[in-house]
This record gives sequence, C-alpha cells and structure tokens, in this order.
Amino acid sequence: MTEVSIHGNHFYNEDCIAGFRAHIPDDSVDLIVTDPPYGIAGDTLHKHYNRNEAFVIDGYIEVPAEAYGDFSRRWIAEAARVLRPNGTLYLVSGYTQLYHVMAALRVAELVEVNHLIWKYNFGVFTRTKYVSSHYHILYYEKPGPGKRTFNLACRYGLRESAPGGGSLNYQDREDVWLINREYKPAQVKNKNELPTALLVKMLQYSSNEGDLICDPFMGGFSTARVAVGLNRRFVGFELSETAFDRGAAMMEGLSPGALLEQLRQPQASTLANQGRAWDETEIEAVLSRYDSLRAGGMTKKAAFETLSTEFGRGRWALERILKRRGDNPE
Ligand SMILES: C[S@@+](CC[C@H](N)C(=O)[O-])C[C@H]1O[C@@H](n2cnc3c(N)ncnc32)[C@H](O)[C@@H]1O
Repeated sequence: MTEVSIHGNHFYNEDCIAGFRAHIPDDSVDLIVTDPPYGIAGDTLHKHYNRNEAFVIDGYIEVPAEAYGDFSRRWIAEAARVLRPNGTLYLVSGYTQLYHVMAALRVAELVEVNHLIWKYNFGVFTRTKYVSSHYHILYYEKPGPGKRTFNLACRYGLRESAPGGGSLNYQDREDVWLINREYKPAQVKNKNELPTALLVKMLQYSSNEGDLICDPFMGGFSTARVAVGLNRRFVGFELSETAFDRGAAMMEGLSPGALLEQLRQPQASTLANQGRAWDETEIEAVLSRYDSLRAGGMTKKAAFETLSTEFGRGRWALERILKRRGDNPE
C-alpha cells in the first residue's frame, strides 16, 4: 500500500474495501462521487472516444462479471458506513450491472434521492439495435436527522430566464444531463475518464468548501482534481499502480481552489420572502390581490409579476397557492 498526502488530501494505492476499513472512520465523509469498474468483460466503449488506444493508460483493473454482485455489496457497505448521516453518494453505472448496484444500495440502507441519466456523445454505434449513449447516476443519501446538502441556487438563480424561455435553474436541475465527454486528442488519459463539467455539477450542488469528498475508484483522479480545484478536502483509493502513480503526480501541481474563479456566478434572487413559510393571512392576501388584478383586466403573466414584486415571492410558490384553490395558473 502506498499513501500520498498533498495539501492534507490523502490518496491510497490500495483496494478500496481494505482501504475504507483501514483509514476512514464511521460517519466522516460528506460526499462520495464514484465510477466503479463496470464488470464488463472486454469492455470497448472507451474506444469510441479514445480513438488512439496508445493514449489510454494501462492498468485499469476490472471486476469479473460473476463477482460483481458480491463486490458491489462489499464496497457499498463500506461507503454507507463512512458517509455521515445525510451525506450523499453519486454512483455512475452502466446498465449491464445496474441491478447489482441498486440491490447493494438497498441492502446498505441508502435511500434514493434521484436516478439521473447522463447522456453523452460518442455512444456505441450499432446497426442492429439502438445506440447506447447514456449512463445511470444513482444519487443516494444516508438517512439522518438533518438536511442533506443541496445548494439549490449554486449555479443559476431562481429567477434567471433561459434565452429561449423557461427557467435556467429548472433546466439545470432536470434529471437528464446532457454533458459531453472530453475529447482529448493525443493526450494521455484514463479509460472512461469522467468529464470535469459533470463532476463540478455534482460537487457544486452537493457539497461546500471544506467538505470531505471521497472517490474509492479514482482511475484518472478526475474527482480528486475537481474536489481540490473547488477547495474541498479529498480522500480516495485506486488499485492500479500505473493509474495511481500518474494520478498522484498530476495532483502535485494543483492549487486548492483553482477552479473556483471559473464558476459561473448565479444571479442572486431579490425576493425578500423566498423560502419563508406561508401563513393563512398571506395566502388570503395573495388570492384576493390576484382576483382584483385579474378583474381589472390584467393577464395571468402580468398578475404573477405584480404579485411577485408586491409579496416578495417566486412565481412557482405563487402558482402553488393558486393551484391549491383549484385555479389553473397556466
Ligand atoms: C471506471 S474507472 C474510474 C474512472 C475515474 N472516475 C476517472 O474519471 O478517471 C474504475 C477504476 O477503479 C479501479 N479499481 C478496480 N478495482 C478496484 C478496487 N478494488 N479498489 C480501488 N480501485 C479499483 C480501476 O483500476 C479503475 O481505474
């Protein structure tokens, strides 16, 4: 076992199940983001975007398909142990072994928050069936008495409109993510390396600066690179010595927080009462004001804008109040 520590972050060249047991206390990790081996013999998906195999690093360690169920149960039990209550996990999986992974999450008593689909480019071309161009991302929580970290407006403000209409915040939080793989011609990389944009999104929504992030299958150290770049703390494992040595060397040159200045700044909401609980007096005032605006000939859209300014509430919250009364606010 080799351990490398850089800026207080810990990287272990070790099997993650043994490593979890040896180095990570119960309830200590805020967020796990990981992409375990896929358990597909002769997996060639990576060839579709790594056109030249010479640039794919050797040493990716696969798990035999027949051992996948047991392997998933063992590492996911450890992941559940080390997560803090209300801590979360993003697990990237292909469809072939998905049933094993979902069963293991259930056995470990982690609770589904979302089942996300990541649609990528360079899918597996075929003439006899549909093209495979997605992965599953299982977003789960360890049950606890508190609230899970979910930074609702970390990327888009709640009132930011998309150029073609609609809300940027809503669109960014839909459960199908269209994110391209990074095509890095003539650059050495790990097989199936996750794109930076995908990792940044998970870490922005589900962690804060200073939180402890873990990736038990580091591969090309992409989660580690993004975690450190966003000024989070990191601990991770990689069994392959070749992948580990290359990843650890890459981490030497990174400055904590270097990615923060590249992040888009969401527009802050100026709504004074957003997020505050409603009381019956306010609900009645909203309904009566809406009725009088509409009776005065105002369109529904204009009436909502006026209500939003006057009551300091967002459009969705106001629509919910109208729907409760049985109105159709569309
Ligand atoms: C799909 S890759 C991870 C890719 C990574 N997310 C990236 O962006 O580069 C899975 C990695 O897990 C490693 N691995 C396989 N079995 C392992 C184990 N028991 N413990 C730790 N790492 C393991 C493989 O060598 C491989 O590098």
